[in-house]
Amino acid sequence: MDARWWERGIVYQVYPRSFRDSDGDGTGDLRGILEKLDYLRWLGVDAVWISPVFPSPMADFGYDVADYCGIDPIFGTMADFDALLARAHQLGLKLILDFVPNHTSDQHPWFQASRNRADGKADWYLWRGRPNNWLANFGGSAWTWDPVRGQYYYHSFLPTQSDLNWRHPEVRSAMYDVLRFWLDKGVDGFRVDVMWMLIKDDQFRDNPPNPEWRPGQKEHDRLLPIYTEDRPEVHLIVAAMRAVLDEYGDRVLIGELYLPIERLVTYYGPHGEGAQLPFNFQLLLLEDWSAARLAALITHYEAALPPGAWPNWVLGNHDRPRVGTRLGPAQARVAAMLLLTLRGTPTIYMGDELGMLDTPIPADAVRDPAELRQPGQGQGRDPERTPFPWTEGQGAGFTSGTPWLPIGHDVPVSAQRDDPGSMLSLHRRLIALRRAEPALAEGAILGVQAVGSALTYRRELDGRSFAVLLNTGGAVTEVDVASGTVVADTHDSGERELPAGRLGLGPHQGVVIRV
Ligand code: GLC
Repeated sequence: MDARWWERGIVYQVYPRSFRDSDGDGTGDLRGILEKLDYLRWLGVDAVWISPVFPSPMADFGYDVADYCGIDPIFGTMADFDALLARAHQLGLKLILDFVPNHTSDQHPWFQASRNRADGKADWYLWRGRPNNWLANFGGSAWTWDPVRGQYYYHSFLPTQSDLNWRHPEVRSAMYDVLRFWLDKGVDGFRVDVMWMLIKDDQFRDNPPNPEWRPGQKEHDRLLPIYTEDRPEVHLIVAAMRAVLDEYGDRVLIGELYLPIERLVTYYGPHGEGAQLPFNFQLLLLEDWSAARLAALITHYEAALPPGAWPNWVLGNHDRPRVGTRLGPAQARVAAMLLLTLRGTPTIYMGDELGMLDTPIPADAVRDPAELRQPGQGQGRDPERTPFPWTEGQGAGFTSGTPWLPIGHDVPVSAQRDDPGSMLSLHRRLIALRRAEPALAEGAILGVQAVGSALTYRRELDGRSFAVLLNTGGAVTEVDVASGTVVADTHDSGERELPAGRLGLGPHQGVVIRV
């Protein structure tokens, strides 16, 4: 099988504000990322997705774009971007940009023009004389009154993030030209923000109440978003985006999609004309992290994939509590082994390879609008966005200035690099193993099952076979194994021979055996 780079490879998400600050202003930047590409190469990942770096008022930290074809000065210049892309390619790394097509900043010239009913862009956004019951993701009504236009406009998120009207042909072609602008520069693909929200009901029907919603839960979830999300026409847009990428060959379209498996897999397109990697967040969302649930989940997802579709798995991102905090540090090592031995492209969120934990944010340091608008509901995303620790000491090698968010107490790269027992070394070993063994990167996944608290499966290709045994629990558990060589172990860094028989897996221990 001749796998493509985005099938064979490993994606690493950089949240640019927090990766490395090269100029001491306390916020990470493009030169900072460039300085650290060698680290990513050393780690062994293949592709780097960077969250938005475009000009933005930063109301949602770059997910409110005011110019799709520029670079915000806080991150540097277009020359810095070009240098980053060139260096990444020199090192054999792919670079994936974040494309935010659902909404612009209210400061975008398109929106400013659209406030005038006589302007050619009058219909580029969703304007209505009277609001319906649709709710915004960050709380409150999704409709805000504009006194200039004398109408309400729709926003899925903040009032300063106005939703584009994707039914308008000029909006579509302008946005496809944005993709071409970056593709012409040579970027290797896009992660498309809130892909499933792009199209709303053309009759603006009210969303029905959610019978499962309870007071105290996120206000947005009070309604079932059946008329605002995952609408049938969205697939035409996804396919059109994909067609733009295909003009350039060998590029990847990734979709951010918080949807149940049956809905998620429709984003591949019935004939593979949709996204190549509709992000699979099931591991991120799983509440009951048990062998039985994981086995059921993997089996369900594999069975739901349309013919020819390539799977993918995500363990963390800039919007959800970190895996180390969700599962605890010991089980996070098992989760890393799971992510890097499953069938499907893995995406690693920066810092998870260090075992970073959510950093508690004092009330006066909160920056995320999701928290500021709905305090105390656990909506805040600052804890998983804190600066990446490179070294010990003040600023953690992230900045020489005052960091934009507090720096946590995580063990930095410098202290983990040469420690074979560290989370970083475990990641590096697992990544190297996946890269070296086509069976792990591209092979079939077989025999997925729960044996007590152990999740077990095999990966196979061309006569090479690996058994993966993961203890999801805190007690010793026994599993039957064939004889082989242990090639990775969460508890040990060496290889060792293993006779056939009963193997006792320690608490939170995972092993990969070449059989
Ligand atoms: C996506 C982003 C998130 C952002 C939202 C609105 O979910 O990942 O960070 O706030 O879209 O753009």
